[in-house]
Amino acid sequence: MTEDKNQQPVENPSQRIRDAFELEFERFSDAPETLSAAEERLKKLQDLKVKFLGKKSELAAQKKMIGNIDPKLRRDFALTFQNLEKHIEQSIDDKRLRLETFILRARVERESIDVTLPGRRPRPGHLHPITLMRQRIEDIFVSLGYAVEDDREIETDFYNFDALNIPEGHPARDPQDTFYTTDGFALRSQTSTVQIHAMQRRGAPVRMIAPGRVFRRDTPDPTHNPMFYQVEGLCVDRGITMAHLKGTLAEFVHRLFGPETKTRFRPSYFPFTEPSAEVDYSCFSCGGPGCRICKWSGWIELGGSGMVHPNVLRAANVDTEEFTGFAFGLGIDRTCARIYQLDDIRLLFENDVRFLEQFR
Ligand code: FA5
Repeated sequence: MTEDKNQQPVENPSQRIRDAFELEFERFSDAPETLSAAEERLKKLQDLKVKFLGKKSELAAQKKMIGNIDPKLRRDFALTFQNLEKHIEQSIDDKRLRLETFILRARVERESIDVTLPGRRPRPGHLHPITLMRQRIEDIFVSLGYAVEDDREIETDFYNFDALNIPEGHPARDPQDTFYTTDGFALRSQTSTVQIHAMQRRGAPVRMIAPGRVFRRDTPDPTHNPMFYQVEGLCVDRGITMAHLKGTLAEFVHRLFGPETKTRFRPSYFPFTEPSAEVDYSCFSCGGPGCRICKWSGWIELGGSGMVHPNVLRAANVDTEEFTGFAFGLGIDRTCARIYQLDDIRLLFENDVRFLEQFR
């Protein structure tokens, strides 16, 4: 066919689409260097496919026009566009395959473990200061021949009060008011409940300590928490007297705070002991003259103690003619606070790792 110089060249849509495709496809010719560049390129390749082969592409529009073409030319027209479509599809598929292979290799490389690299050290955990304190107390009493008892934290009124000589309506229930459930159970307000369980379980003679959690409706402040730890002590045998109680607690404070530490017994009242006494020990920091730790008194309170009331022995079926005993109950949180010089026992339960990490 000769070209008439005065006429515009006849438009060839198939060639135009091919040229446009080649121009854009050219941008995919060099190999990507990084995984993210390859991933990005794969997305763009998909866009290119939609642009040139999608439903809204010019190629699709041309194919729809086949009905308007002179029937004699129709076959050639169809063949031209089929070839073009195949060419575009093939070019894109080849490139996609290469990109996918590259991405797969790069991902495997990235995720492979270099066993020669130094490992990351796990942060070691450690015991809570209350646990450390409890263990120190347990070690001392075990070496004195005491068994360690563990018991329930949810109790009936009988074990928390009645069996401890605190009948219903007794004013001693008030300061130890606790958290009740709806079906007659309550969270124990003192570890003295274990006195009864231990005597019922073991009978007499018995020598045990029972560290554990107790609960009271106390408003939190630097020396009070609604949940805190006590350790109960109980010794029941033939001929036990107040002298044994004093000797035992004196030995305990010597071992915990040092041999120079003194003990002091102040008359007190607990319904389950008679006579009863509050036990203090001379300040382990200043030794007597007074300092910040003992609040300038020279003495620090350890807890309550006394000779087990006969009613308590009876409630646990122990023969009061044959046996006598002593008991004591010490606060672990406050002892812990004194030893570690904490101003506030609430720190022990705030779970601030920066604070807890100091007690390794
Ligand atoms: C009792 O709980 C008696 N069961 C102790 C006892 C046992 C006496 C056996 C006689 C024979 P008291 O309520 O005083 O006693 O508590 C004992 C210790 O628990 C206190 O000295 C104190 O260290 C600690 N404590 C009491 N209330 C709290 C509280 N809210 N937060 C932290 N510690 C407390």
